[in-house]
Parts: sequence; C-alpha cells; structure tokens
Amino acid sequence: MNITVTQGDLIEQSAAALIVNHFEGLQSPGGATRSLDAKLNGAIRALIASGDFKGKLGETAVLYPHGETLSTRVILVGLGRSDEFSLDKARQAAGAAASRAVALGCRSMATVVHGAGRGGLDAQAAARVVAEGTELGAYQFNEYKSKGDSKILATVSLVELDESKIEAMQTGAREGEAVGECANFARDLVNQPPNICTPSYMAAKAEQIAAAFGLTCKVLDTPAMRELGMGALLGVAQGSSESPKFIILEYWPGATAMSDLAPIVLVGKGVTFDTGGYSLKTAADMPEMKSDMGGAAAVMGAVRAAAMLNIPRPVVGLVPTAENMVSGGSYRPSDVLTALNGKTIEITNTDAEGRLLLADALAYAKRYNPEAVIDMATLTGAAMIALGRGGAAAVFSDNERLVQRILAAGEVSGERVWPLPLYPDYRDWMNSDVADLKNSAGDRFAGTGVSAAFLKEFAEGYPWAHIDIAPMAFAIKGQMVKPYGPTGATGFGVRLTAALLRAWES
Ligand code: BES
Ligand code: MN
Ligand code: ZN
Repeated sequence: MNITVTQGDLIEQSAAALIVNHFEGLQSPGGATRSLDAKLNGAIRALIASGDFKGKLGETAVLYPHGETLSTRVILVGLGRSDEFSLDKARQAAGAAASRAVALGCRSMATVVHGAGRGGLDAQAAARVVAEGTELGAYQFNEYKSKGDSKILATVSLVELDESKIEAMQTGAREGEAVGECANFARDLVNQPPNICTPSYMAAKAEQIAAAFGLTCKVLDTPAMRELGMGALLGVAQGSSESPKFIILEYWPGATAMSDLAPIVLVGKGVTFDTGGYSLKTAADMPEMKSDMGGAAAVMGAVRAAAMLNIPRPVVGLVPTAENMVSGGSYRPSDVLTALNGKTIEITNTDAEGRLLLADALAYAKRYNPEAVIDMATLTGAAMIALGRGGAAAVFSDNERLVQRILAAGEVSGERVWPLPLYPDYRDWMNSDVADLKNSAGDRFAGTGVSAAFLKEFAEGYPWAHIDIAPMAFAIKGQMVKPYGPTGATGFGVRLTAALLRAWES
C-alpha cells in the first residue's frame, strides 16, 4: 500500500472512496464531513437524522454522490463519543473504514486524518495511527483461495487542509505505514498453514527480510545447536521430521556512536505446530496451534520495524523454532533434558514445550550483555483463561521500570498488556525428584505464572520481561476483536515492541 499526505480539500480529491467521520451523538456533522455534506446537498445530515447511522466507533455507511464529487463513493465512519475519543479510537476508525473500502473493491481512497481536527490529537500521532489502522484494516490473507480475490487497496491519501500540519503528518504517516506493514508481515507468517510455515520457512523469511532491510541473519541448524548444548529445544524438535532452526536476526543502527549501546534482545516462541506431543491436545484445541509461532513472527516483525524506523539502539531477535509432533522419535513425559545454561529439566508434560525453546534462547541472550531481554510467546491457555481472548497479553517481570515501559508502550500502540505476579512460590511447584526442575507443575492453577517462573530460571544476568501473548495472537469471530481486519492472525506484539523501541531513549 502506498500512503501519502496531500495538502488540500478532501472534496476535491479523486479516489474510489472518500472517507469522512462522525462523532456519536452529534446532530450536525463538523469539519470535512460538514463541507462534504453541503456539497452532497445534505445527504449525510439526512442519514444521521434518519437514525440509521449513529456514529458508533467503527460503524460505517456508504453514500453515492451523483457527480457532486470526483470520487465514486463516500464512506462515513463512526468515531464513537467525543468525550471517549483517543488515539486508539482513531486507529480503529481508520481500520474499519479501510476494511469497508477493501470489501467494496476500492483500489484508492482519500481520507481525513481522524482526530487531527475537532478530536484535538497531535498531527503527527494522528497521522501515525490513521496510516497504521489503514494498513491493518486493509489486510487480507487470500493466498490459498483459488478464486483469486484481486481486491487490493493500493493507494491511500491522507488529506489535510492546514499547511502547517503537513510535515508532521508525513513523518507520522511514514511511521504508521512501516509499523502496520510489519504487523501484516507477522500476520502473514502466522496465517500460513503449518505444512508451509515450517522452521525452515521461518528461517528463509528471516533471511529475506535481512537482505531487504540491511539486517544480519544467522541460522543455527541441529548440529550447531547440539554443539552449543541447546538440549531443551532439541528435545522438543526430535519428534518431527522438520529440522529445527535457531534464528538470530540483528539490527545494528548506522555507524554512529549510538551503536555502542547495549542491544535490546527480543525472543519469540516459534513452535510452527503444537500437537502437544505425547501429552496430546484434543481435536478441538489443535487447529489453532498453527499460531504457536506468533511470538516468533512478532519478533521478526519488530526487528524489521526497528530497521524501517531507524531506531538508534541495536535490536536483536532470537527465534527458536521447532515443531512439536508425535512419532517414534518424540520426547516423552519423564525424559530429562539439559538446557544451554546447564540446568536439567524433567519433562512432566510434552505440551509445555514453548518454555523449553525459550529456556535455551534466554540463556543464549546473555552473550549480548543486553540492555534488556523481552520474550513474547503464545505460552499458556491459562493466560487466555485469566484475561480473555482479545483481553490483554500478560506481562511478567521483576524489573518495575521495564514493566512500566511495556505498559506505556501498550497504551501508545493500542496493544493491551496487563501485569500478573511472579511469586517465588510458583518455582517451588516445579521441584523435581530427578532433575533441577520439572517443566510443569501438574495442575491447572496459576498456569501462566508457573510458566513465567520456569522461564526466570533461564533469564539470568539481565533485566527481563515475559509477555504471554496467547490471548491476543489469533482472533476468532465475535470474541473481543478490534476492527483491524479479518479474523485469524493479529500480528500482536509488533506494534507493542515498536512503540517500546521508539520510546526507549526518552
Ligand atoms: N501453545 C500452547 C498454549 C496455547 C493454548 C496458546 C491455547 C494459544 C491457545 C502451549 O504450548 C501449551 O500447550 N500450554 C499448556 C501448558 C500446560 C501443559 C502446562 C497449556 O496451556 O495447557
Ligand atoms: Mn503446548
Ligand atoms: Zn505451544
């Protein structure tokens, strides 16, 4: 999608659709909506007066001018109540308008920057969220539909009358477009079926983005991992005929003094399919497990975004990726594995596999002397029980400053996170008779806290936070989904970490 900022009058634009907005509860439209309404001889006013359009957040209505504009359609989008308006509401409205435009087959649209006028938002931030919401809302995944859907929203123009806001809006639009594109990149990875998106496919994609965005990429294969001592990851992988990969994706900012800064390391769980292994999942629970590499996809998207945004600090993405399958070679309950840091793990549940991949990756992260390490993982069903699908991701950390940074990034990005406790007791629930610890406590209680306490054993020597994105990675119809496009992969974590990286030095 090509997003540009145009100085001028929205009414004068020629596009397949003009996008204007309306606050819920207002009788008469304002701003660009008002001037367009005048041009359309009161058609928008009549629509509002009829009660058919209320202006609820994300509500859309389509009008068809009879030659009063150069554009074929007008899409009116609701912003919700003006006293509840925020950056994220502007983002959601933009998303809803874009998905309506795509559904109508529009190839181009011209839109107002929601909130930059009466909404009172900062011009750069408003353009950022409108560009981002547009990218997200226009997203589709049609690769495997043989009746090829060629509906593509190719060009979007953000139209602003006020000359003095243009430059800030251009900067904001570029940032929003980059982050939206990186979130969609992550969505594509997650939406790919698991017979295509294997660990090797993940590695190939990492190499592709490295070449395209000036990153360095290194991929460790089984012998290299064995050499290092990544016994936990290799234990999970051994049941699959797909070979595991350990992907190292590095972004080093341009040759400035700033590049001496310690890197921020992002770690993402990359289980390309999780059957549960011998602790097998049910038929109902299994299909969604193609999204069990959502953390990995978010990390790859975030490093891509760091490069596109020219973040001044180095960012490293570590992606342990494997498939959790059942076969004669699979790991078993009661096996003992040795992780990279030398700790031994008694397997009590082969479905608690994600923490094993992360154990080796978190131990590996130490060699960077990192500023901070943040892992993202679709780690537990218990996180979804606690917070609800689409509710929030759970964040765990002993580092209060890091938690505050992550919560602030959640606010800015509109990707919700909520802290849960990391009580030392949880660690004791994993005491083992044969090894240093077990990989699960054996009951359902505080399942997400227990998994975080497990990870903590391997995240030694740096500030660390764990984000369980299981509630947020995959959207299902009717379950707390924001209007950012179709069901399926959300790309959750890309926007969150991009906001975190942008704010880091300030
Ligand atoms: N990938 C799952 C967690 C998950 C479940 C993510 C549902 C998204 C939706 C993870 O590997 C898993 O199976 N966790 C177990 C842990 C248990 C065995 C300790 C779980 O949550 O039941
Ligand atoms: Mn599992
Ligand atoms: Zn899993």
